[in-house]
Parts: sequence; structure tokens; C-alpha cells
Amino acid sequence: MTGELSPIDKAKFVAAKRAVDYVEDGMRVGLGTGSTAAWMVRCLGELVRDDGLRIRGVPTSTRTAELARQVGIDVISLDEAKWLDLTIDGADEFDENLNLIKGGGGALLQEKIVATASDRMIVITDAAKEVAQLGSFALPVEVIPFGWQTTKALLEETLINLDVLGRETSLRMNGDAPFVTDEGNFILDLHLIRIGNVRQLALVLNQIPGVVENGLFIDICDIVVIGHGDGRVELR
Ligand code: 5RP
Repeated sequence: MTGELSPIDKAKFVAAKRAVDYVEDGMRVGLGTGSTAAWMVRCLGELVRDDGLRIRGVPTSTRTAELARQVGIDVISLDEAKWLDLTIDGADEFDENLNLIKGGGGALLQEKIVATASDRMIVITDAAKEVAQLGSFALPVEVIPFGWQTTKALLEETLINLDVLGRETSLRMNGDAPFVTDEGNFILDLHLIRIGNVRQLALVLNQIPGVVENGLFIDICDIVVIGHGDGRVELR
């Protein structure tokens, strides 16, 4: 499955491989999105195929659903699962309190719903994503396409009164057209550089009409599994 991996892929792979140790027979598992989560889905597929592991997976994007089916995982919807034992997902940044920025891959809405509906969330990552303060990675905010420019202006106005260092916002693009999420929405990326009060920001953003969800995951993650390029794994 792995062949010769670059250090970054090795880091992602070893984190994913360690995280699937938490998956037990019969579990309902939330399947994250992104390149690290894809390793986890492949690892789970291997356990299903070779060890007869029986799980039901709830994917957080169409991409992950496709991969999960390809590797032989029984895919169900969140409404079928109702509640999950565990979600394993990647992240774009994490801090010492295990708060996260997610949504670099544009799947933050389903990812947050699925993680919140889980007994436990495990994040898998490489060490470069650990930060003292969240905000270097642009914070994704999913917005309804209707009136998105008005939502963007409201958002920028709101940021003036908040404890952040940068206040630039940009519409995420896919070539010449706006990037469209699985839910048919747009993403505004907030270039905040440093977020002083993550809890306040997460609450305030979701009060703005047109905002569907933001990529701050506060008090949702339970464990971070950090992979290193030399194969070492650390737990937080
Ligand atoms: C997708 C996400 C991803 O988990 C995050 O962007 C990390 O991706 P990768 O593992 O490819 O670095 O939040 O919406």
C-alpha cells in the first residue's frame, strides 16, 4: 500500500496507521476528508479485507465516500448511523488545547457535524500543523452563495471588533469559478494570522446571516496523533 513514501506522506501514513488501532469490531466510524484521512481510510480498508474487521463508515465528503467504497468499507449515512463511536480526521492546525482549524479541503461542514455526533474524535496529522496560536492557516468559513458578497462585507465588519491580527478575506476559487462545497455552498478564507480568542470567534462568525459554519473545532477533538517523517508517532 505504501511503496517508497516521501517524509511527509510517511508522517501522514504512520499517524493514520496508529489511529486505526482505536477502531474496534462493530464500531460506527466517522471518516474524515483530506490526504491524511485518505491514508486512514486505506488502512481501515486493509483491516476490513485482511482481518475481517466489521465497521460501518460515515464519510464526510463525496471524495471520502468514493474511496471508502473502493476499499470495501460499508458506507452508511449519518442518519442511518444516528451516532458514532469514533471519528478520525485530519486538520490544518491544532493548538495545545487540541482546538483545530479545519476545512482546507472544503469539507468542514460535514466534518464538524460528524465529529460532533461522535463519542470521540481523533485527529491525525504531521508535526508541522502544531501551532502556539491558531490562525496562520486561513480560516475557512462556509457561506450560502446567495448574497455572498454581502456576507463577506458583514464578516469583514465583524472582524474589526475581534482579537485577530489579520482581517483579509478571500473567496476560495476553483480555477476561474468559485469553489463549491458538497453542500453547494462557497468558502470564504479568513487570513487572520493570529486568533486571540478562538471560542469567541467561533461563536460570533456563526451569528452572521449567510454563514453556514466555520472551520474552528473547539473542544471537539480528544486525541491528536502526530506522525513524523522518520516513522515516529506521538500522542497528545
Ligand atoms: C478537509 C480538512 C482536512 O482534514 C485538512 O484540510 C487536512 O488535510 P490534509 O490531511 O490533506 O493535510 O479539514 O476539509
